[in-house]
Order: sequence, then structure tokens, then C-alpha cells
Amino acid sequence: MIDDLLPRPRAVVALGGTVQWASPLTVSAPARFDGELDTFARDLRRAVGWRVVRVARGAALRVDEDASLAPGAYRLVVDDPSTIAASDGAGLSHALTTLRQLAPASWWSAVTAPATSQALARVRIEDAPRFAWRGVHLDVARHFFDVDEVCRLIDLLAAHRLSHLHLHLNDDQGWRVALRAWPRLTEVGAWRASTPIGHAEDGRDDGVPYGGYYREADVARLVAHAATRHVTLVPEVDLPGHAQAVLAAYPALANVAEPLSVATRWGISPHVLAPSPGALDFVAEVVGAVADLFPGSPVHVGGDECPTDEWSEHARPTMAAHGFTDPRQIQGLFSARAIAALRERGREALAWDEAMDAPLDLATIIVAWRDVGRAVAAARRGHDVVLAAQQRLYFDWANSADPREPVAITRPPQCTTWEDVYGVAVVPEALEGPLASRVRGAQAQLWTEYIADVAHLDYMAFPRLAAFAEVVWGTAGSLTEFRARLVSHLARLDAAGVSYRPLDAGEAP
Ligand code: ACM
Repeated sequence: MIDDLLPRPRAVVALGGTVQWASPLTVSAPARFDGELDTFARDLRRAVGWRVVRVARGAALRVDEDASLAPGAYRLVVDDPSTIAASDGAGLSHALTTLRQLAPASWWSAVTAPATSQALARVRIEDAPRFAWRGVHLDVARHFFDVDEVCRLIDLLAAHRLSHLHLHLNDDQGWRVALRAWPRLTEVGAWRASTPIGHAEDGRDDGVPYGGYYREADVARLVAHAATRHVTLVPEVDLPGHAQAVLAAYPALANVAEPLSVATRWGISPHVLAPSPGALDFVAEVVGAVADLFPGSPVHVGGDECPTDEWSEHARPTMAAHGFTDPRQIQGLFSARAIAALRERGREALAWDEAMDAPLDLATIIVAWRDVGRAVAAARRGHDVVLAAQQRLYFDWANSADPREPVAITRPPQCTTWEDVYGVAVVPEALEGPLASRVRGAQAQLWTEYIADVAHLDYMAFPRLAAFAEVVWGTAGSLTEFRARLVSHLARLDAAGVSYRPLDAGEAP
């Protein structure tokens, strides 16, 4: 409905009265928009059983290409006929999302709720995203989410006009993508013997083997599905730390001789890649191979939380050869190889903010997670940045201070509420002015040590992700006004089968 669009578009003018739409809905559009309209047709068929048919003239909905509009921008007029203008598929996709929000929540239904006709309020909407990077991160290493589950999340991102899904593909507790040249990464590295029960600090384990990974065909399905939704997938290979699953598979890459298994406890393993020629080649090869599986995507090369104890003890010759005075500088050798593999392929590289503690190519986009200050430092140094500061953008933190919240990585009263998220400044105050253009956008993180299935993923993601979507679209305003729209928006999430956290709940559903 006009009053509950979310994210709020930039300009909405009610024109008064309604137009009546019915199935089959007639649409005319340039052929370049066939893909977006096929997706819209599938959505309407599934939600309300409608058919969408293409006609040459006299359509109820006419789509025009307007090259003067910015990427992702759109103009939507609901009238007789209705029109959409966009310069690209993303803009049209955003317009069709807004159009579905103008209809009742049943237009988001995951189970067909048949309807024959629908009155839509006449309205004119002009809209454009402020930030190009409107990201969500999903850790598929700690808990694995299969292709259908990730495709469902991609649909939910698109429903909130979000743009990027960052997939954290490996960690100490598992490697999740099959690579032909390195079969043991999944034969060995994708499986762990056990998983913690409850909070890691409680020290209990389930003793149940756990694992999973994406085959090449699975990745191809993810890539194809994300393209239909104009969501860019961002694969991450997190090295040289968070490497214990890699070292279990390929012990020759380690600093130490002791055999390692895939980690079964949460937390940061002290075991990291050795700065040997073999391990540096490995990083270049796997980053290149992952990039090849995700055509066109920017690739995240990790670089966070890399303990240097093993390097201090075992990598003295490497330090001497490079004239390093601090073992942290070794990390720069890995970053350089990973980034070179991406540059060869014409891809952008991202890294967590710790990568700046060693020499780093300034073209690398910094995902600033430790705090806002890291985003400020990165932009001042000359990097583009994506704000991911944990204090407000880590959705593995509890939803409230209530001790009855489900087990989360935080302990009460530490939490991040949806209201906190709505208050995020994507451009930190210290970067207002010329450096603001270094901020590509922001990203919400779904780390999954404490998120084992889709129902709980929904609970941790929503409604915080709805608040985040509006913040990063760039139209956040009054919290009270947003809350009223959010209440209506939850009906859409209900229709879509999302098990979000009720706004005032303290307990699990
Ligand atoms: C991180 O949370 N270690 C990026």
C-alpha cells in the first residue's frame, strides 16, 4: 500500500482513486527486460495465481527504457495505463518490487492465494538508491545452507531492494565449495566430527558429524538465481587465518607438523597458513578458481583475525628475507597473491579491515567490521569501504537484552535491536564531505555459529534486515513513522513464510 512501502522510496505522490488490474495482466516492454518480467510473472503466478502476458500495445503496464535514470533508479506510475521507466534491469526489478508492495500482502505469498482482480491506488513514485553496496553476509561455513535456502534468502534480499550477498565459504570449522584442483578441501575439509551445543563457553558438544558443500552445478544455480534478482554474489575465501579446515585437508600448507582435523569448537584457531611458496601459490589458485565459479563477482579475500604466534616461531626466515619487523606484515604476502589473481581476471577485491595492518593494494575495498573507526581510517588511507561495524551490523548478536532471547554469540545484556540498526549512519560523521564518496554502502552480517537452520536465520535476520534495508537505501527518517510501516511490512513477511522475530518478543517463537 502507498503508506507502508519499505524501504521508503524517495518520492511518493498519491494521485487519488484506483485502477483495477486483473489476470491475465498485460505488459509491454523492450526485449532487454524479458528476464525481469519473467521473474515478475513467476512471482505473481506463485503468489496469486495470475498470468502475465506480453502484448505489443494497449498494455495495463508499459515498461520504458529511460537512459537518463541512474543505475538502480526507477519511476513507477500506477494509472491507466501504468508505466515503469528504468535505465537498467536493477531499476526495473526495484520498481516491480515496489509495485508488489502496493498490492496486498498476498502478493508476497509463498503458497498461492488465488485472486482474480485487484484495485491499486493511483500513485507516482520516483526512487533511487543512495548506496550501491546494500549487502548481507551469510556464513555458510559454521552452518551450511543449501542452494534452495540461499536462493530463498536472495529472494528476500531482493524484496528489500538489497544488492549484494557475501558468502563466507570457509572457516576453521568447514570448507564449502568444491574445487577440481583441490579435491581434499571438500572430501576432508567440508566435514567436522562434532558441533558445540549451546554457547561455546558452556563447553558441550553434540558428537554428531556435520558438513556439506556446494558442487560446481550448485554454484551455477546460485549464480543464475542471483542474476534474476539483481543480487550480486560475493564469494569469500578467508585466508591465511581461519584455515584449520584447509590444513586438515592439506597438512603441507601448515607451519607445524602435527596433524589437524577440521575444528569442532567455535573461536579462532591458532593454526594458519605457512608463508611458504606452496601456500602462497595455493591462495592464488583457490582465489582464482573461486572467482572463476562466480563470473563477474567481486571476491572477498578474508584476512581477518589471523593469529601470528606460529609465524613468530616458524617464519623467521621469511621475515628476514623481506626485512619484516612485525609478523603481521606476512599477511601482506597472502593479500598480494590473492589480489593479483583477481586483478588478472579483472575483478575487484575486498578484505576485512585487519588486512590494512600489512601492506595492501589501495584498490582493495575494506569491509570495516571491528568498529566505525576502521571505516574512517580505511577511507582516509584511500580505500573504498563497506561499513559492517559489529556493534550495529552483526545480526548474530542477540535481538534484545532480554535473557530469554535464544542463545546468541553475545551474552545479555549485549544486543543489537532493530531500533539500533535503524540508527546506523552509513557514512560515519568523520567522513562527511569529500571522503563520503569512498563509502560504497553497508553490509549486515549473519555469522552462523548460533544459527543452525533457516527458521533461526529468519529470526535473527528479520526485522533487523528490514530496518537495515531502509538505512542503506538512504531514506531512513523517523523511527516512529518507520515502526508503523514495519508493522504492515511484517504481514508481507508472514505471507512469504518468514519466521521473523516479533517486534516486542523476548523469547524464541
Ligand atoms: C570477523 O567478524 N572476524 C570479520
